[in-house]
Amino acid sequence: MSVLNQSFMQGFIRMCTDGYAAGWHERNGGNASYRIKPEEIAAIAPQLNTSGAWLPIHASVPNLAGEFFLFTGTGKFFRNVELKPESCLGILEVDATGEQYRVIWGFADGGGPTCELPTHLLNHQVKKLATDGKFRVVYHGHPVNIIALTFVLPLDAQVFSHELWQMMTECPIIFPAGVGVVPWMLPGKPDVGIATSKLMETYDAAVWAHHGIFCTGEDFDTTYGLLHVIEKAAAIKVATMSMAGEHKRQTITREDFLSVAREFGLTLNEDFLR
Ligand code: 13P
Ligand code: ZN
Repeated sequence: MSVLNQSFMQGFIRMCTDGYAAGWHERNGGNASYRIKPEEIAAIAPQLNTSGAWLPIHASVPNLAGEFFLFTGTGKFFRNVELKPESCLGILEVDATGEQYRVIWGFADGGGPTCELPTHLLNHQVKKLATDGKFRVVYHGHPVNIIALTFVLPLDAQVFSHELWQMMTECPIIFPAGVGVVPWMLPGKPDVGIATSKLMETYDAAVWAHHGIFCTGEDFDTTYGLLHVIEKAAAIKVATMSMAGEHKRQTITREDFLSVAREFGLTLNEDFLR
């Protein structure tokens, strides 16, 4: 079966297409990656080209040595992924040291993986360790409302987590750890990757001030769904602030959150309930 017909490829393409339709990927905005399972790589092995040059990752990911990833390309538009997956997407192999990668499929028109390669791989490394290998997806988008909030709320995980949880009853069930917040930093550099992956030890999502958000998860549905839920909660926050600023006539209380936690067996960060 061709690379393009594999179900991981189809799931990845669908996530890109849906993200574009949701408005999170203007022009080449956003990027995505998937850590490919050994049996999925084995199924396409004859179609891979391992003659390409090893290139520096500009980050150290020894825990990902020998792993394979599907990535969006730098400068590629999400709206084109479904039409031209073999030029917008590529498969990478990480070397035995975790310092280098090579392209073994895709990027047919040239180019390479997203400029956020260091952040993606550092996040994968942290999540692979933290979830015993379960998490395989890292997804970055530029959703309007979450970015808007980074201009008016303090850039603080407590405030963002508390406010987003309060906007929809299901939020603490979907992201019980809350969300991390990265201050404004230069994109596409190892430093922002190090800062983000540090937060991923605690959270599954990290807001990037005045830029966007990174989400991680087990599969395409849960990772896409996490971004969707956070952005919807942010939209409700923007709507309530547009109507009444910081004033809330009523809201979900600390006791309400505690009863949700009891009912769903969640451990909520107590600091974020205040
Ligand atoms: P790429 O086109 O390199 O993926 O960059 C887009 C982006 O969102 C950078 O943060
Ligand atoms: Zn971006």
